[in-house]
Formats: sequence, structure tokens, C-alpha cells
Amino acid sequence: EKGGYDSFMEKEIHEQPAAVRDTLMGRLDENGNLTLDDMKIDDAILRSIDKIIVVACGTAAYAGQVARYAIEHWCRIPTEVELAHEFRYRDPIVNEKTLVVSLSQSGETMDTLMAVRHAQEQGAKVVSICNTNGSTLPRESDAVLYTHAGPEIAVASTKAFLSQITAAYLLGLYLAQLRGNMFKDEIKTILAELQEMPEKIQKLIDNEQQVKDLGTSMKDADSVLFLGRHVGFPVALEGALKLKEIAYIHAEGFAAGELKHGPIALIEEGQPVFIVVPSPNGRDSLHSKVVSNIQEVRARGAVTIVIAEEGDEAVKAYSDHLITIPASPSLLQPLLSTVPLQVFACALAAAKGYDVDQPRNLAKSVTVE
Ligand code: F6R
Repeated sequence: EKGGYDSFMEKEIHEQPAAVRDTLMGRLDENGNLTLDDMKIDDAILRSIDKIIVVACGTAAYAGQVARYAIEHWCRIPTEVELAHEFRYRDPIVNEKTLVVSLSQSGETMDTLMAVRHAQEQGAKVVSICNTNGSTLPRESDAVLYTHAGPEIAVASTKAFLSQITAAYLLGLYLAQLRGNMFKDEIKTILAELQEMPEKIQKLIDNEQQVKDLGTSMKDADSVLFLGRHVGFPVALEGALKLKEIAYIHAEGFAAGELKHGPIALIEEGQPVFIVVPSPNGRDSLHSKVVSNIQEVRARGAVTIVIAEEGDEAVKAYSDHLITIPASPSLLQPLLSTVPLQVFACALAAAKGYDVDQPRNLAKSVTVE
């Protein structure tokens, strides 16, 4: 049932091209308009919303953080992302003009469900992005957008994460279409770029041996740090979470810009640091800022493991290990940059002899608060 793989996690990492492809499938109607699975909220209401709050836990919350960059950029709707268990208890400002988006693989996460109910009590509409047909969250929501990742068995989420990001992009494009923030052609262009992602993810998987070897060689590390900026920041957080969950190693993700505000004090000789580098072709000066961060940590003795676009010459001189990913539009990069971090954690945990599918103390579906 593991299809020849050593673990479900490895199998599910390998299923990611299909998971993303299936989540994107059949989304354009005969008029070239983007459609979603089960949108039961009136267009008039969707046009009137003035705030989006994404609620989720763990990996799903990191998918939400990625989504925020895309939704705000495409739809110009202020978007917050909040851990579901924190959301309820801070007396959030929610009303009929708030759209709450829940993200959940299982659809049964109690914390997320409670956040959704809380939002509905204040009049908010809820869209759920979910991987499990007929589970509680979609049943209680006003609209549903299913991720089509297929069942995820390993406790550590992989293919559900990439599918959640993909579905959240679709929701963002749908709202942009409906509210007239984008022209049909612009949406089509982004959809076409999204359609190219499965092939690019496949390419990463075909070349995973380098990352596996790196994971195995680092099995005795007692701390690994992850840096990222913009959409690379939640990717860094996700890379750290994977390592904590299955390899039981101290791992932390930071916003690269935050380094000099504290975390750089952690850097000492031999400290492994992953750095997720934005596209050199992106806007702003993000790329050069992150390249400076690589130099800064390396000058203090860090072993740098750099994830950068193919052909990015600027990072070469500062990379102890260079992992290249195919070029992509900046906002879509997490669908690629996450993959080596999953492969790394899985290989490292396996090298330590751990059961990567059933990590200690964790359950696949957290149905208690
Ligand atoms: C991480 C992981 C958890 C879940 C979280 C939410 O690998 O699996 O952090 O992402 O418990 O679960 P769902 O998505 O089922 O609501």
C-alpha cells in the first residue's frame, strides 16, 4: 500500500504533482470563467466583503500565510491569518462583511471548527478549503473548495499543504474575477502558470537524491534554522515544523529580515541554516536582501543550505549546499521551495531510524481543543 516507498510520507511527497494538478482540474467554465466546487455565497455578498480572515492550525496555517500574499495582491482585500485557537479568544472584529476562510486537511480539527462557529455567530460567511469530502468543516461552511490531494496517511502533512496553497490561489483569483480586480486574460495567465507547476514539482522530485543525501548526512545536527522572506517566510516555518515533528530536532523558521533584530545571535560555527531565496526576477529588492542575509550568517560560521532558482548566479559564492528549483512567478514559488524541505526532513528522520509516518505524541486529526 506504500507503493514501493519506505513510508507514506515519502509516497505522499511523490504524489504532489498529481495533488496540485487535480486541485486545478476543471476550474474554467465554457465562458472561460473560473468556477469553484460549491460556492453557496451570493455574489453580492462576496462583492461587499471588506476583510478576509484565514483560520487554521499548524501546516494549514502556513498555507494560509502564503495565501495572504496572493489574495491581498490580487484582490486588494485586507487579509489576516490567524491560528484558529487564538482567533476565538481575542474578541476579533468580525461581521457580515468579513469572509472567514478555513483551511484543513482533515476537516475535523476542533480548534478550526470552533473558530468557524464563532465567526458564523457574528454573521461572517465561511468558505472552507478542505481535503476530506463530507467532513465536519465543509458541512458547516457556507461554501467549500475541495483540495484533491487524495487521502493523506502520514501524520506530517505534505501533499495537503501544496494543495491547500493551490486552492487558496484559486479562491483569490475567483474573488478577483468577481470583484473586477483582474481581467479575464490576467487570470488566465496565472492559471496557465499554475498549470505548469506540477511538471516543475516533478522535476524537483526526480532530482531529490541530492537533498536526501544531505538529510542523511545531517542526522546528528541538534538544531537547524530556516530563513525566508515574503512567501518564503511561511515556507521557512513549514520546513522547521516538518523537522520538529518527525525528526525531533530543534528547528526554527525566521523572517529573514528579522535576523538582525535577534536571531542572528544564535549563529555559531557549524550551525546549519536553510535560506529560501526569492526569484532574482521578482519585483523589489527582495532577492538581493536575502542574498545579503546568506552572507551575514555565513560570515558567522553558518553552514548555508540555499534554495534558489536555477541560474541564480548571485547565491553561488555563499552556498555551502545549493539546491536549485525551477523558475516560477514569485507568488507561486512556495509550491516548489517547500518540496526540498519535506524531502530533507523525511530523509533525516529516516536516517535517525524514526517512524516518519507515526511521530511520537502526534495524531493525524486533532479532534480535541
Ligand atoms: C503538520 C500537521 C499539522 C496539521 C494541523 C491541522 O504536518 O499535520 O500541523 O496541519 O493539525 O490539521 P488539519 O489540516 O487537518 O486541520
